[in-house]
Amino acid sequence: MEKRRLGTTNLYASPIGLGCRTIHKIGSKKAIEIIREAIKTGINLIDTANIYGGGKSEEIVGEAIHDIREKVILATKGGIVKDASGLPTQDLSPKSVRKAVEESLKRLKTDYIDLYQIHYPDPTTPPKETVNTLMEYVDSGIIRHVGLSNISYEELKEWASLINIPSVQIPYNFLQHKTYDKILQFCQSRKISIIAYTPLLMGLLTEKVKRRFPRNDERSIIPPRIIKECERIVGQLKPIAEKCGKTVPQLILNWLINRPGIGCILVGMSKIEHVKENVEAMEWRMPSEIRREIDDIAKGIKTSLDNEFFIQTIKKVFSNYAGRKVVILEMGMKIIVPSTVEAGDRIKISWNGEYLGKY
Ligand SMILES: NC(=O)c1ccc[n+]([C@@H]2O[C@H](COP(=O)([O-])OP(=O)(O)OC[C@H]3O[C@@H](n4cnc5c(N)ncnc54)[C@H](OP(=O)(O)O)[C@@H]3O)[C@@H](O)[C@H]2O)c1
Repeated sequence: MEKRRLGTTNLYASPIGLGCRTIHKIGSKKAIEIIREAIKTGINLIDTANIYGGGKSEEIVGEAIHDIREKVILATKGGIVKDASGLPTQDLSPKSVRKAVEESLKRLKTDYIDLYQIHYPDPTTPPKETVNTLMEYVDSGIIRHVGLSNISYEELKEWASLINIPSVQIPYNFLQHKTYDKILQFCQSRKISIIAYTPLLMGLLTEKVKRRFPRNDERSIIPPRIIKECERIVGQLKPIAEKCGKTVPQLILNWLINRPGIGCILVGMSKIEHVKENVEAMEWRMPSEIRREIDDIAKGIKTSLDNEFFIQTIKKVFSNYAGRKVVILEMGMKIIVPSTVEAGDRIKISWNGEYLGKY
């Protein structure tokens, strides 16, 4: 498989990476088989995070790669912790970052991490403090590079002025990408690779899209009109895929990996067949007329997750280190809001965590 340079580093990643956010759910034995098969077939970027499965994902990845460590670009993330009531929140203070890195190293059974990514920015810690802490690890060779994820354009500019960033993770699929134009442009101008996540919208952009999901399935929070839209898109893609002798996921993944600015896509795979099918998708040269047909389908999508929002009640309000107003949401996460927002207000939050207004 071709390899693509991550930023300006000496890391060359396969255009498709194995996303391990949910890999613990299929059991360690099967998960390890999938990870090893992925590496055997040419995938070299493995992405996980300290919070995936409460650390289980990192443990499985560590077990799967400990004897083939040099073949892997190991990417993990940190910066999310549980607050006093057990809810996830951001903490990028030096103490918390050190704890997260040390724990990840142990679970991953390694003495170095190729790409340590900030999972979500923390509006209560000055980025410089986090960068200084991470640089201690970079200087000692424990972290090779620091990447970002779920960052706003303003925050990205600040981070990029402090440290050489090779990559930024953003969600990118047919129904989620419209709000990232500025980030994409900035990354292209600075040679920062975009690592696109949830390319198949958690499996919804495949032929097995279901109308309803049980409550314990994370996809049950996706609004029904989005699921209906996925069904419609898959219906449009299916005849094109058949014409090309490909599957719908293959068509989508190949199309995405050739979008401007995209360096790598992270795909979750729960079956060995997914690995084979998705790797095969990278080795196909899509004819330009097929690309245009898919471009037209993408342009025709009106319902988008980018237009959806969550309603959240504000639990706590305070000023951050730069005098900006920060709130803690009932879901635990912290975000920056305008000065008119007060504790107890109900507000709208975009799917990528931005304040959209009072509700
Ligand atoms: N930075 C962040 O905050 C963030 C957030 C989310 C995700 N990510 C990263 O992105 C990765 C991918 O995201 P994701 O796993 O949530 O979503 P995804 O890659 O869009 O979807 C994964 C699901 O698609 C289905 N699938 C994959 N290949 C298939 C194929 N060839 N045919 C049919 N179905 C196929 C599988 O569903 P079934 O298992 O149901 O068969 C799989 O679990 C994560 O693992 C993680 O590394 C990062």
